[in-house]
Amino acid sequence: MKRMEIVQLGLGNVGRAVAQIILEERKRWLEELDLEVSYRAVSDTSGALVGEDLLPQAIRFKEKGGKLADLGTEPLEDVLVSDPEPGSIRVVVDLAVHGGTYDLDLLGIQNGSYLVLSNKGPLSGTTDQYEKLMKLLPDRLWHEATVGAGMPVISTINSLIASGDEIFEIQASPSGTLGFIMSAVEGGHSFSEAVRMAVELHYAEPDPRDDLSGLDVARKAIILARTMGREIEPGEIPYQSLVPDGLENVSQEEFMERLPEADEAFHDRLVSVEAGHMLRYLARIPKEGPVTVGLADTPVESPFGPISGPENVFDFHTRRYSDVTLTISGPGAGPERTASGVVFDLLDIARRVTRDEEE
Ligand SMILES: NC(=O)c1ccc[n+]([C@@H]2O[C@H](COP(=O)([O-])OP(=O)(O)OC[C@H]3O[C@@H](n4cnc5c(N)ncnc54)[C@H](OP(=O)(O)O)[C@@H]3O)[C@@H](O)[C@H]2O)c1
Repeated sequence: MKRMEIVQLGLGNVGRAVAQIILEERKRWLEELDLEVSYRAVSDTSGALVGEDLLPQAIRFKEKGGKLADLGTEPLEDVLVSDPEPGSIRVVVDLAVHGGTYDLDLLGIQNGSYLVLSNKGPLSGTTDQYEKLMKLLPDRLWHEATVGAGMPVISTINSLIASGDEIFEIQASPSGTLGFIMSAVEGGHSFSEAVRMAVELHYAEPDPRDDLSGLDVARKAIILARTMGREIEPGEIPYQSLVPDGLENVSQEEFMERLPEADEAFHDRLVSVEAGHMLRYLARIPKEGPVTVGLADTPVESPFGPISGPENVFDFHTRRYSDVTLTISGPGAGPERTASGVVFDLLDIARRVTRDEEE
């Protein structure tokens, strides 16, 4: 029997969805895959809840905005340096937000853990940080959910490379929020109306500047570039922000109130689009040369033309997919779909470990 012990960072939207799937499915995994999955600990910013007796209660508690410290926590660092149960592999599952977990992930892997991420932060820092992580983890890193949620984007890049294909360029519309806003603007809404709609439909973060700044797309572009094998510093990607000048630091209320000030300039940009093209917010990651993130006039006849809502589109131009490109599209966000990507990774680790043991 294979035994997997999880230390999970984050019990937010994605973290709770992952824990729910594991609690619901693990009996079947034990019967069908001979795989036993248990939780060593779950953590939030207040510390680590050790063991899994209180996990169902912790999930409900976090749904209401509680802190795990109220259920009794220990320092997460202590858990990460402890040994796994004999006969178990340990997987650190980082479902926290952005920075702040790099050192914790490092501590876990220095202690022999595998690492699964939906958090883009640890893979989108400096080249030094990235290389330090990769040196320790050449065969112990899984991160499907960092880009495209549950869609097989990272595994497609890995499979293309492993099969001997050569990726010339990836073009992507990897932000559901920006995809929605661009198609709403194209449909006749003003920029400010489109942003308001994205917030009301929960496609955008409550403060839409988190999406409009382009930073999230730039982080995904770095991860795609690095997965392709490129060495790249975050500073090499001059991403275009759609946050109007002067509204970067005002309150959220003032931002929404004053957003219509930007409508005219955005409209002017829209009418300047070449015939047969549409305005899209894209990441372009060539094999060599500058990576670009920002607004681009895009042919209507491209895979990005049909975007009409919050879907993501990834288009791979490779040696084998050159006359017709390989395109993956679908919903690129949502806690349950993202959790699926994380669970695919966990099951893939279990398969890999079994195969390695048999060899
Ligand atoms: N939601 C999606 O559709 C989606 C899709 C793809 C990728 N992702 C990525 O997945 C991650 C999780 O997203 P989410 O929507 O679940 O976010 P969320 O609801 O804000 O939850 C984040 C969780 O991480 C915890 N956390 C933050 N810093 C931590 C630290 N240093 N140590 C331990 N826990 C820490 C938070 O604790 P507190 O509760 O104490 O604040 C919270 O439980 C993010 O990185 C996001 O970018 C999300």
